[in-house]
Amino acid sequence: MKGVILAGGLGTRLYPLTKITNKHLLPVYDEPMIYYPIKSLVETGIDDIMIVCGGNQAGEFLRLLGNGHEFGLKHLNYSYQKNEGGIAEALGLCKHFVDGDKVIVFLGDNIIGESLVKAAQEFRKQDGGARILLKEVDDPTDYGVVKFTAEGAIEKIIEKPKVPPSNFAVVGIYMYDSNVFDIIETLEPSDRNELEITDVNNAYLRIGKLKYSSLKGFWADAGASVEAYYQTIRIVRNFKLNSKKNKARHLTTI
Ligand code: DAU
Repeated sequence: MKGVILAGGLGTRLYPLTKITNKHLLPVYDEPMIYYPIKSLVETGIDDIMIVCGGNQAGEFLRLLGNGHEFGLKHLNYSYQKNEGGIAEALGLCKHFVDGDKVIVFLGDNIIGESLVKAAQEFRKQDGGARILLKEVDDPTDYGVVKFTAEGAIEKIIEKPKVPPSNFAVVGIYMYDSNVFDIIETLEPSDRNELEITDVNNAYLRIGKLKYSSLKGFWADAGASVEAYYQTIRIVRNFKLNSKKNKARHLTTI
């Protein structure tokens, strides 16, 4: 299985912090933001990772991460997204790299406080298709949100609904078989002129191939707003300070 981390886009919701700096290079307490998704992926046993860079200071990723030795990797792959055409467009750049395998896609501004190992194992066993992660949150209006059927199955996913049909947000971690690249080719740009990952997930849903796991521990979309960024730093800091005392490995314990 391959891993992809998406770190393109302009991070406009964090302006002016991201006016000249790439969002994923900003500090989250004592490490750059992008370290967190890399570590989560490596923990699942994935050692073949591509990072899609873009936006400001794209070249700095190479200087920061090099060949990934710091994370126990032998090598890191890089791709470059020229414009901000959306998450699905950025993933589309990785078709040759994924090369028919399954792939876990991690948004570079998402930080989780729980091991992905179990969900990744379930996806490895799964007969193709896709698997998303859901997290119950108080206010899901910044995210993809799940509408459930009366029987509790996913009926559809709505991107940033003004009136959310549930409190279950779609976390920025997606597991796909290689058909995802055929699906991406069929997408049309959304109202915000992006190829939406929510449209990819709804396409898998329509063919009955979308499964989900629930995330119980901490989840942050550190790029959602300056406030979300600040809260993420606060939680990560508390966890790291406490974990020295209680030796906990994951942010779930906060
Ligand atoms: O964080 C989870 C949410 O992420 C999901 O619930 C939403 O369904 C999904 O659309 C996404 O929403 P955001 O509005 O938070 O996405 P954002 O534009 O912040 O992009 C997330 C990451 O994807 C960002 O850190 C970098 C990468 N990205 C984004 C764009 C628009 C790219 O690599 N290229 C792009 O063109």
